[in-house]
Amino acid sequence: MPSLIKLRLITIKISAITIFMGAVYLSLFYILLHAWFLHKHKTMKMRTLGVNLSKVVVHIDLKGSPPKLAYLESVLPLFKDLGVNALLMEYEDMFPYKGNIASLSSNICYKEHELRQFITAAGRAGFEIIPLIQTFGHLEHALKLSEFNHLREVLLYPDSICPSKIESMTLIKDMLKQIVLFHNSIYPLKHLHIGFDEVFHMNKCAQCRLRNETDLDIYFNHLQKVKYIVKLWSPNTTVLIWDDMLRGIKLNDFEHRDLTNTEPVYWDYAPFLRVSHNNLYKYHKNFENIWIASAFKGAEGRTATLPSLRNRFINHVEWLKFIFHYKFGGENKIYNFKGIILTGWSRYSHMDPLCEILPVSIPSLVLNLLLIKFFQEGQIENAYLLESSEIFNRFLKNNVNKHLQCEDDISLENFETSSCTFNGHQIYSILEQYIFQNDEILDKFNDVKEGLFSLEYYYKLNHLNMNTILPAIKWCNESLLDLIATENKIFNLMLQYYDVLVVQEYVNYKFYDGKKKLIGLLKLLKHYYINHTWYRNPPHRYKFHSG
Ligand SMILES: *[C@@H]1O[C@H](CO)[C@@H](O)[C@H](O)[C@H]1NC(C)=O
Ligand SMILES: *[C@@H]1O[C@H](CO)[C@@H](O)[C@H](O)[C@H]1NC(C)=O
Ligand SMILES: *[C@@H]1O[C@H](CO)[C@@H](O)[C@H](O)[C@H]1NC(C)=O
Ligand SMILES: *[C@@H]1O[C@H](CO)[C@@H](O)[C@H](O)[C@H]1NC(C)=O
Ligand SMILES: *[C@@H]1O[C@H](CO)[C@@H](O)[C@H](O)[C@H]1NC(C)=O
Ligand SMILES: [Zn+2]
Repeated sequence: MPSLIKLRLITIKISAITIFMGAVYLSLFYILLHAWFLHKHKTMKMRTLGVNLSKVVVHIDLKGSPPKLAYLESVLPLFKDLGVNALLMEYEDMFPYKGNIASLSSNICYKEHELRQFITAAGRAGFEIIPLIQTFGHLEHALKLSEFNHLREVLLYPDSICPSKIESMTLIKDMLKQIVLFHNSIYPLKHLHIGFDEVFHMNKCAQCRLRNETDLDIYFNHLQKVKYIVKLWSPNTTVLIWDDMLRGIKLNDFEHRDLTNTEPVYWDYAPFLRVSHNNLYKYHKNFENIWIASAFKGAEGRTATLPSLRNRFINHVEWLKFIFHYKFGGENKIYNFKGIILTGWSRYSHMDPLCEILPVSIPSLVLNLLLIKFFQEGQIENAYLLESSEIFNRFLKNNVNKHLQCEDDISLENFETSSCTFNGHQIYSILEQYIFQNDEILDKFNDVKEGLFSLEYYYKLNHLNMNTILPAIKWCNESLLDLIATENKIFNLMLQYYDVLVVQEYVNYKFYDGKKKLIGLLKLLKHYYINHTWYRNPPHRYKFHSG
């Protein structure tokens, strides 16, 4: 009997183990199922909640402060990390044009082999290259030259080309051919930006007037011709245009125009957008896709030194909120804008001064690319309702710190780089110092000048107090030395990123005013500061009043 009891006990034990194991398997299965549901739910949510922007494009504006290609190549991994998948290369005079249009290129333009190597590397890293070449307005780099000045629409202004002259079309054809064939020989050209913005002078010359067409007809006819040329060399390339010349035109003005393979880019760089739904609607009705453009630099004024992190951020927040689940009137489907171009202007035009340089605009770029990622991922259901400062503080700050390698928290209002070590932080700090120093000197200069307001008259009366002149001489001398020290630091740091001629222009321009004022005043003061004797009062040697 005892053995039977033993046996039963064993049986009970075994079935208990079986039940236990069954329960374990069941709960494991349940946990896995739950996780799978959660995952599925989350990915579904991501798909429906996020902003769908297929192209995230960084604009590399080479018409001012063109960076060394080695530097551009060195920032590609960062761009890639932050979701960038295309570069808009605005070559202007940095493309190595050949043959009869070689003079369109700058003397320091990129060499063909190094450009080819850069594009190959960028393509291999997954970036699409979209060249931008102007074909209507902003053709200063060609029309400024005496050999092409007869192609200007208005002789005084080298910006807009006359579309009615055969030679204009020859020039445009030559440019497009070289650009398109060069790029197609590396990777097939999917998109080509042909500018078409800010055509300040149109339909003015005798030849254009003779056509007896409206400005709009001239515009669209030229567009058609340029597209025809692109098609000759590259039939599958879609042409992009800036949208500003189309704003405010009527819906029926688009009728009977050839708008195939053309996509407008609606740009607005202001912190508070003024995008017109009405214009967008007209583009939507006439073009297959619409792109948008924001600005990460070059939108703070022609002479800005550093981008305003706050303004650039708000510009992007506003755009993303604007396109978030955008629906056109009468449609149920969410409209997907095809891409966003983060513009980074280097000058406002060929003849304008240099504005913010690229290495010091990396913080703005990083911040705004992370913002775009945040909106694309759609982790927060009602992200478009959040205040920009909340988006920054809750969702972006830590990541921005990480990418810029900052130890201290950064702030939008008062961006401090002293604890950051991103490539460019040194030049950022020294430019901050420059701004502070230069402003202080110009302020004080005006005070000193005011204090010395009486100087010239009393100098002529031979009635000057030497004790007021000496401190002014000392101040001028010290300020000048400080300024030159900063200039040298900037010069040396910039050489990492730019050709020496670019650095010279930047530094000479930034320090021109301050140095000129100080040197001039110093010279004058030294002229007054001499050992001499004075006269008995009243001083009457000089008579300024005749009467
Ligand atoms: C110019 O066009 C207008 C309107 O299309 C027409 O009335 C006018 O006769 C034309 N003038 C010439 C010289 O062809
Ligand atoms: C253009 O696209 C068509 C259709 O995809 C293809 O058959 C053709 O080879 C392409 N042409 C070029 C020049 O890439
Ligand atoms: C995103 O939009 C593009 C059109 O620009 C569309 O082809 C694509 O299917 C969309 N992707 C998703 C995940 O909805
Ligand atoms: C300016 O300051 C430097 C250094 O302090 C000194 O060597 C130089 O003599 C000064 N020049 C004048 C004009 O005061
Ligand atoms: C100052 O000028 C007087 C004459 O004008 C001259 O005699 C004297 O040596 C000068 N002193 C100095 C220190 O230059
Ligand atoms: Zn003309």
